[in-house]
Formats: sequence, C-alpha cells, structure tokens
Amino acid sequence: MKTHEIRERFTKHFVDAGHTNVPSASLVLDDPNLLFVNAGMVPFKPYFLGQQNPPFESGTATSIQKCVRTLDIDEVGITTRHNTFFQMAGNFSFGQYFKRGAIKHAWSLLTDPLDKGGYGLDPDRLWVTVFEHDDEAEEIWRDEVGVPAERIQRLGMEDNYWSMGVPGPCGPCSEIYYDRGPEHGKEGGPAVDDTRYMEIWNLVFMGKERGAGIGKDDFEIIGDLPKKNIDTGMGVERVACILQGVDNVYETDLLRPVIDVAEDKTGATYEGEDTSEADNIRFRVIADHSRTAMMIILDGVTPGNEGRGYILRRLLRRIVRSARLLGATGPTMEAFIDTVMDTMAPSFPEIDENRERIRSVATREEQLFLKTLSSGTRLFEETAQAAKAAGSSKVSGERAFELHDTYGFPIDLTLEMAEEAGLEVDMAGFDSAMAEQKARAKADSQKKKHGHEDLSVYREFVDNQPTEFLGYDRLESGGNVIGLVRDGKLVGEAPAGTEVEVILDATPFYAESGGQLGDRGVIATPGASLDVRDVQKVGKKVWVHKAEVTSGGIAVGDAVDAKVDGQWRHGARQAHSATHLVHAAVRQVLGPTAVQAGSMNRPGFLRFDFNYGEQLTEDQLREITDIANQAVDTDWQVNTFETSLDEAKAMGALALFGENYGDQVRVVEIGGPFSMELCGGTHVEHSSQVGPVSVLGESSVGSGARRIEAYTGLDAFRFLSKEQALISGVSTALKTSSEDVPGRVAQLAERLREAEKLVERLRRERLLSQGGDIAQSAELVGATRLVARRVGDDTTGGDLRTLAADVLGRLDGPAVVALAARDTAKGKVPFIVAANEEAVSGGHKAGDLVKLVGSYIDGRGGGKPAMAQGSGAKIDGLEAGFAALRDELRG
Ligand code: SER
Repeated sequence: MKTHEIRERFTKHFVDAGHTNVPSASLVLDDPNLLFVNAGMVPFKPYFLGQQNPPFESGTATSIQKCVRTLDIDEVGITTRHNTFFQMAGNFSFGQYFKRGAIKHAWSLLTDPLDKGGYGLDPDRLWVTVFEHDDEAEEIWRDEVGVPAERIQRLGMEDNYWSMGVPGPCGPCSEIYYDRGPEHGKEGGPAVDDTRYMEIWNLVFMGKERGAGIGKDDFEIIGDLPKKNIDTGMGVERVACILQGVDNVYETDLLRPVIDVAEDKTGATYEGEDTSEADNIRFRVIADHSRTAMMIILDGVTPGNEGRGYILRRLLRRIVRSARLLGATGPTMEAFIDTVMDTMAPSFPEIDENRERIRSVATREEQLFLKTLSSGTRLFEETAQAAKAAGSSKVSGERAFELHDTYGFPIDLTLEMAEEAGLEVDMAGFDSAMAEQKARAKADSQKKKHGHEDLSVYREFVDNQPTEFLGYDRLESGGNVIGLVRDGKLVGEAPAGTEVEVILDATPFYAESGGQLGDRGVIATPGASLDVRDVQKVGKKVWVHKAEVTSGGIAVGDAVDAKVDGQWRHGARQAHSATHLVHAAVRQVLGPTAVQAGSMNRPGFLRFDFNYGEQLTEDQLREITDIANQAVDTDWQVNTFETSLDEAKAMGALALFGENYGDQVRVVEIGGPFSMELCGGTHVEHSSQVGPVSVLGESSVGSGARRIEAYTGLDAFRFLSKEQALISGVSTALKTSSEDVPGRVAQLAERLREAEKLVERLRRERLLSQGGDIAQSAELVGATRLVARRVGDDTTGGDLRTLAADVLGRLDGPAVVALAARDTAKGKVPFIVAANEEAVSGGHKAGDLVKLVGSYIDGRGGGKPAMAQGSGAKIDGLEAGFAALRDELRG
C-alpha cells in the first residue's frame, strides 16, 4: 500500500467517525520554544490548555501533521527508524471521548480488513504498553479489545507518560507496537526490544498539566486540565514499512527512489556486497535529508547560519558531502530534490506550485558549498602538512572550528579527512570554540530583545493574562499595570530614573512583529510619566513596554493613560504599507519565486529581503521603484479583514511562514490582487498616504537572498531633494547641465586615468635617468665595485629596487649596489642591496649585507643573495652603515 493511501485511509476512518479534518500546519510556527513542529498536537495546544475553544463542532479533529525532529541528526541512517522528517497521523478529542474511545478507534483502523477501510494488520502481531499505574487502560485492552494479557506491558514515566518536554499539557500514554518477527531481535515484547517490536502509534490520555522540570520523567504535575483530552500520533512512515513489507523507512515508496538516483549519480551501490556500512549510511542520509530539506524549504526556510536556516544548511551540506564521499564529482542536488518532490507531491500538492523555488534554494546552497568545499579542503591539507612537518598528530580545535565556521565544513567531515591523513582533531578545543560561539549567539539574540536572557518571568502573564491589543484603531487608551520587570525580575514598583518593562492589561502600542518595529510613546499616571522606547511581544500574547520612568514612580496596580507617539506610528504605517508595495512590485518584476525572506520597517525606512539568485539590474530596480510609486499614485484603498487561513489562501493571499490554522488570519489587501498578504501590522488607509518610495539600492544578504532598502514618506522626499541639491552642486562645479553630469564625470575620470599613467611613466623615466650618473660614482672596494648612496627623499622601496637593478646592470665585474632613501611621511628609511652573480660567488650576498647596513640604522631586512631589502628608522646611521659595508667588501 502506497504511503498516500495509508494517509487517506487514516483520514477517512476518523472523518467517518465525526472528526473534523484539519490540514497540516506549516512546519514553521511562530513559537519561540520550537524550531519546527515536532508532533501532531502542537497546533492544538491552546485547545488542550483551555485557552481557546476548539473551533470544531464535534469537539474532535484529525490531522496528518508534517513533523521535523533534528535533535538526533547524527543518528540518521545508523538506526533505520530515525527520520528527520515524518508524518504524524493523529486523532484528537477535546473533552469528548477518552481512553476507551481512543483505544477502540486505533484498534479498528489497524486491524480492520482492507476492504473495510482498515490496514488489515494481524492482531496477533500487535503488542501494547500502558503506564505502570494505569489499570483502566490495561482493562480496556484486555477485557474489551481482547489483547491477551501477556502482550500488554506496563512501563514507567520515561516511556509511558507524554509531555512536550516543557510546561504544558501531558498525561499517561499507551503505545501500540508491531512485532516484525524473530529476524529483527529478541523475544519479549517492546519492554525488551524496541527494534523488533516497532512502535507505530502513541495514544496520550491528556488530562494533566506539567510544570517546569527536566526531560521525560523529572517534572511536577501541577494539576488537571479543564477537560480530559485525547492526543494520538501514528507514524505514517512506520506503518508504510509494515504494509510495504520492507525492512526500514528508507525502502518505502517515498525514499527508495532517492536512493536509486543516488546510486546512479555516484556510481556506488546501496547495500551491495562490497559496500561498507559507512556508505550505506551515506545513502540513507541523502534520502532522509533530501526530503526534510525539501519540506522545510517548502515552508519558507532558506539556508542561513542560525536557527532553522542553520539546520537547513546542515542538512543540505550533509547531502553534498555524502554524495561526494560516495563518488559523485559534480552537482547532484537537483536530481535528489526533484525525485523527492515527485514522491511527496501526491500528498502535498503545494509542492507543485513551488518546485522551481525549492529547487533553486537547494541547488544554490550546493553550489555555494561546492565552492568552499575545495578551498576548505585546501586549507585542511595545508593544516595537515604543517602538523606533520611540526611532528604533531593533531589538527587544532580552532582550525576545525574555522573549517566549520568559515568554510561550512560539518565537523564529521573534518574528522573523516583527519583520519584519512592519519591525524586526530582536538575535539575538546573544537567543542569549546563551538560552545563559546553558541553561547554568544544565544545570549545576543535574547539580549537584543529583552536586555536579559531569562524569559520565565513572563510565563504567568503568557499563560493567564494575555494583553489586549487596541492599537489597530486607537493611539491612546486607558489600562492597568499588571506587571513590572526590572533587570529580569518582577518588581512591585519602579522609581523615577529607572528603566522598566511595563505589562498592561490592554494597550494601543504595537509590539514589534512582522518586521514592523514597536511603537514609541508615553505611559502616564497622574503622578508619573514613562517614555516608551520599544515594545516587544512575548509568547505572542504579552506586550512588554520597555520604558524609562522620566518622572514620579510607577507601581503594579496603577491605572495609566497609554499614548502612542502619533508621528512615529504614522511613519511606521507608511513604511509597512510601502514594504507590501515593494514586495508586490518585486514579484511582478522578478516572478513568484522571489519569495519574501524577511523585512524591517521603521518610520521613514524599509528593508525588504527576498530569495533571488542574482544581482538585480538597474532596469529591474527602476521598474520595481516605478511600480511601487504607481501604486501610491493610484491611491488604492487599503483593506484589512479577518478570515480563515484556507479562504485567505484561496484568495491568493501570500502566507509564507505558517499561521496557526484554526485561528483567524488577518489579511491586508492593497489594490485587490496587486498586493494581498497575511499581516498583523498597522497600515495606511489609502496607498497615497505612503508618499514617495525612494529605493536606495539592492545588495546581497547571504546565499541566494537579496535586500532592497528604501526611504518612504517625507524621508523619501528629503532624500530625493538632498540628492537633487547634490547633483545641482556638481553640475555647477562641472559647468554642465545635470543631464550631462554622468557623461562629464566619466570623461573626467578617463582623463584622470590617462594623466596618472603619464605621471607614472615620467616618474620612472626620471628615476632611471639617474642610473648612468649613479653608476659612474661606483668606487672600487677590494675587487668589488660598490655604489652606496642615499637617493632623493620619498623614493619608494619599489623604485629603489628598480633603480638598483638598473645601476647594477651598468657595472662590470663583481658589483654591489646599496641604495637608501627617507620616507618623510612615515619617518622610515627603506633600503636595498643588490649584488650581481660575480659578487655573490665571491661571498657577498645581498641578504647578509642588508642585515649589516640595517644594524646601523635600527633596521631589519632580508631577501635573496641577489637582492634584499629592508626598512630602518635612523637615517643618521646610514653613512656608518655604508662604511661597514665597505669594510665588509674589503674583506
Ligand atoms: N503527542 C504524542 C507524540 O508525539 C502523540 O501524538 O507521540
């Protein structure tokens, strides 16, 4: 049975039983605790916690959620169960059915015959585990479902109690296992061997809430959830293994084709007779990572050096490296990605609309890595040689880190290369360099937003007192201080002169998000005034106003008047709407693969990043500017409205990073199809209010991404008028009209270049014209002709060299030329000694003579026997130096 059909049967089973079918959420949700969605229940978390009512009439839902787990990336391919991407099929009950319902639903889908819509699994091969204290679940399995008592095992907290690993919903669980047969391991059930007995489905009886604590079993249970819920997760890929009769996930219909292509591209054979296990693992890494990378790119991530972008980069580079180690010499990425897009597209039709974009992101990263791969390899080889020459057997930790950090070499590549070269890597040094960098990056990013690193002080507010945002249609409102934070700690009050973070129950202040910076303004009570300098959102729900108390004191419980600086907001709205116009214009000019990658807007200025592989031409940039300004001129009405995600997408709204479905989304529309985006920002009401948009230019921001920066509104006008004044100044100075300025400047530059060439030629001629006279002044010292002279000030080292060679060429017999000059700007004395062949064979080497002269003028130098140069500091010693030279030649 194909994987796609396994999915369809799952959905049908639960929809027939009244569940609402909910499409998979994006892998990338706006949750600071989560790099990627890693379980089917993640999008439903607010419903489990009772923070929101589930929008499903039946109170039940089913989904097949895209999941990524990259914690154990190094395990991929070594065990055959680890996949970084997988699909979790689940059914969810919010206060409806509980243990009995969940168990029966799962059992019937697994064991019902194929013609009844089930998977037709042999019930005698199924085992279950329950939590050690869960008598009820065991009784249902044994007495109502009929699973023999010996195939039900009780396990402890670590195995059979599920939570997200952080505070949130949790509960005991019951897992269903499939016995793959004695060739896969020991008898004795999942408690003994979880390779032979493969977990396929986890049923969580989610009725509790967990507190802080560590890991899977060391935490406190703080209480009951408002309702008893069900959260289940069935591993679609694992069921596919069983139903397709294959040994592991890499052999299923979704991944095996990638392995076939990899064989083709590398010339190696997967699981061939002579294939090493290391090579088999490389094949599996290629298959697994190609799919995960493809799915992550689909959801809007691009390769980078942090967070999600870094994971993607790591995945893609592991593919490149693995292919290379298997024997590929050229690019292979396109073939892998195309294949996995083909296998996944039946279940994820949106892949087809994004093929070109996905392919180009992946292949560009490959190109980039192939470039540093060879320069990094060179660096490595030099390092290895140097280590050997120095009699060391180690590559230093810093060098390994440099390879990782600058050349993008995953450490295991460095390790492998070191082993080939018979060397070791100082891993402790590498780890500490790495840890240092990570700690720096982490502290930086937390600090940037909050000035301190611990966000737990806001927890209570996030969970129980979300801020009401009033700022879409008001700039001023009353509110109450419900929390104050100073230096990362909750405090009761803050006196004048202090910096404090203020949390209100309701606020008109916009908090930084979607690229738009937080509002500035004032929070006041009858006795106090606070200057709001920034506003950040914590956990999507709590607005944190970072303010300075400018007079009086503020305390928790105070009623305040919160007032946004109207000027600020006006500018921010202009810039944000302008960003949408520029985005629309970029797509119109460059095509739909130019997907937004990030943005920043503050009053008067915007920055817009998007994926695009090449530098934009001047014409493209001009066209983008023109389209954006035409949109301003058209004076479109700007409409904002809320709707469901599906509807918004159907209307063509651009939704890049996943919104939590089930939620209403906010759509901002300017000129209908011209620009329609999901956006929570504040905007102008008519496009003409944006004012002029003046693009400053475009630049590259890392691999495959470009950045456009522009001024908006009055700032754009001021920028343009300043430019205008500048041009008019230039044209007056050049005595030409402003249209002729570029031509005139080009002409002048050309003439300047010619003049410089001429000056250079004359200078050399003059320099060399002295050669004859200088040679005339040669004295005979012993058997050697010697010229030792100070020449004109500011003759450069290079000129001294040229001159010395010229003079030497004019002298017969053994000859030595020593020239020095004074560098008036630096107060240095560059000097040169040249010796011809006869002098050298007579024992007078320029390198030695330079050192001799240098010792009299506080100088150092060195070079070859025929020509050496140096630099001194004390011109007064020169004559003594030359005298010593004479003595030396005299022998
Ligand atoms: N949340 C549970 C899991 O991830 C069941 O869906 O295993």
